[in-house]
Amino acid sequence: MNEIPRGTLQEQTFYEQVGGEETFRRLVHLFYQGVADDPLLRPMYPEEDLGPAEERLTLFLIQYWGGPRTYSDNRGHPRLRMRHAPFAVDRAAHDAWLKHMRAAVDGLGLAPEHERQLWDYLVYAAASMVNTAE
Ligand code: HEM
Repeated sequence: MNEIPRGTLQEQTFYEQVGGEETFRRLVHLFYQGVADDPLLRPMYPEEDLGPAEERLTLFLIQYWGGPRTYSDNRGHPRLRMRHAPFAVDRAAHDAWLKHMRAAVDGLGLAPEHERQLWDYLVYAAASMVNTAE
């Protein structure tokens, strides 16, 4: 009978625990379905096709949670605040972004502890991206 090697479960990254690449692809795909119909957020995206933006956010989150480092191989250091500087991320944009993320997270059906960890990070990260006075 095969044994589970000692330590394997504890050493799994969050990325692995929640289902790996497929989970993050689903999350960001659901999120961009919301963005595509959002009158405030959609015009902020410089490209006609949201596909490449979807890919960048997916790869970033995969890397952040312990998966492959493809994001940085392609894009270098994330420097996310700097990369958002061209866009007016005000309170309304922040709220809209989180609204679509909330719906996307809900769509994953994660275990409550994983869901809380992911959501707490997204709330914190969104607050740190606001770059306007109000
Ligand atoms: C708070 C509201 C936010 C707004 C309105 C916003 C908006 C945008 C826009 C318009 C882009 C450019 C699309 C593109 O060409 O990639 C972008 C890029 C990106 N955003 Fe956000 N964003 C927000 C928060 C966040 C947060 C919280 C994260 C991380 C958890 C994030 C991660 C990224 C990444 C990884 C990119 C691509 C960076 C690159 O490699 O060029 N964003 N965002």
